Amino acid sequence: MRPQASRHLPEPFRIKMVEPIHLIPVEQREERLREAGYNLFAIKAEDIFIDLLTDSGTGAMSQEQWAALMQGDESYAGARSYHRLKRAVEDIFGYRHFVPTHQGRAAENILSAVLVKPGNSIPSNMHFDTTDANIRARGGLPVNLVGESAYDVQDPHPFKGNMDVARLEAFIRETGVENIPFGMVTITNNAGGGQPVSMANLRAIADVYRGRGIPFFIDAARFAENCYFIQQREAGFSDRSVREIAREVFGLADGMLMSAKKDAIVNIGGLLCMNDADVFDHVRNELILREGFPTYGGLAGRDLDAIAVGLYEGMDEAYLSYRVAQTAYLASRINEVGVPTIQPPGGHAVYLDARAVLPQITQAEFPAHALAIELYRVGGIRGVEIGSVMFGRTDAATGKVQYPKLELVRLALPRRTYTQSHMDYVVETLAKIKERATAIRGYRITYAPPVLRHFTARFDPL
Ligand SMILES: Cc1ncc(COP(=O)(O)O)c(C=O)c1O
Repeated sequence: MRPQASRHLPEPFRIKMVEPIHLIPVEQREERLREAGYNLFAIKAEDIFIDLLTDSGTGAMSQEQWAALMQGDESYAGARSYHRLKRAVEDIFGYRHFVPTHQGRAAENILSAVLVKPGNSIPSNMHFDTTDANIRARGGLPVNLVGESAYDVQDPHPFKGNMDVARLEAFIRETGVENIPFGMVTITNNAGGGQPVSMANLRAIADVYRGRGIPFFIDAARFAENCYFIQQREAGFSDRSVREIAREVFGLADGMLMSAKKDAIVNIGGLLCMNDADVFDHVRNELILREGFPTYGGLAGRDLDAIAVGLYEGMDEAYLSYRVAQTAYLASRINEVGVPTIQPPGGHAVYLDARAVLPQITQAEFPAHALAIELYRVGGIRGVEIGSVMFGRTDAATGKVQYPKLELVRLALPRRTYTQSHMDYVVETLAKIKERATAIRGYRITYAPPVLRHFTARFDPL
């Protein structure tokens, strides 16, 4: 028998509508790579066989969600769709006020516009990059205080998203409560490998923030996966349902913001919730200025209905056990063919350790990029490089290049979209790459924009 981690749970759904995908011949894939300047962001989706670029907005909606879309009320104000979503949001999260937004970063923008003043600091375990950018855009400083185990690829700690609470306390003492308009935590910690945060840590974070009068907001994009990990991995929670755990989690905070494109399993949407009526008044005004009237927030009425249904489906425990098992299955089979991955596997993605596969390629020659390109060339699979292309920086003063600690390729799993045989195909492709890994060479950049270069840079193989 296989160990528990490699046990695959059958998909808890059957397929009644299909979207064809094609594996174009290898010569065409090589041609597409040349045309794209060896940047996978520049390849057309129709030329990808298995697309693991992101789990955001790429999941498959259920028959109930598609049926709910048909009920969408497109009234400008007070639509029935809004009230259906309001009931779901109040039921699940329990906050007094909420607005829909067109996606997660819109909620971040509005909260930052209302609360962040130049010179303020906002602590979290790790801010996602859009949260980081929205805080900076208002003159604030995002501060990451995740525990050290988050940076150790092989550390099997079950809650590597946990914040270092002692550092948080020290940080607040040094910075001063008056310079911290709110504090955050991200569940699960996407920027740190999709790792969960324990209930014990959430309680401790809440004590610190609220004990000092700092409003506490949760970035809850993958809250259901996080609550499922608490149920499975934390002592004392095995008898509690994911819904009950979610209730406790959100009861610890003063508000939350969320990209609904993840655990609400919709293609577009977001939420911003809070208890404070005065802050909410400002939020509503800002929303009207930038997104739309508060009962639709930049979305169509039908989108609100799809979110209302998807929030419950995202917490369904049969679905969550399959989802987490699929990720664990992919990781353990990849490990079996000799490719190390971040341990333990998180909820939504598997992260390949590219330097372990391609030790001959130095960071100056982009090993994770080379591995991502091979996945497409050999198998038509698209992942995303999280290494020296994304995070390499040239120090303006010294001209020296600073490289990130890790060279990773992230394979993010869209929800309810790919089956076990797709996962097996990914593993077989990696096994082929591993066999001829010593022959794989690195890349050099031929064009790079000044910021966020990974999206549009062009490369030549060495
Ligand atoms: C943790 C987290 N927060 C915020 C966002 C931003 O959400 P959106 O892409 O909907 O703007 C994301 C998206 O990936 C995320 O993973």
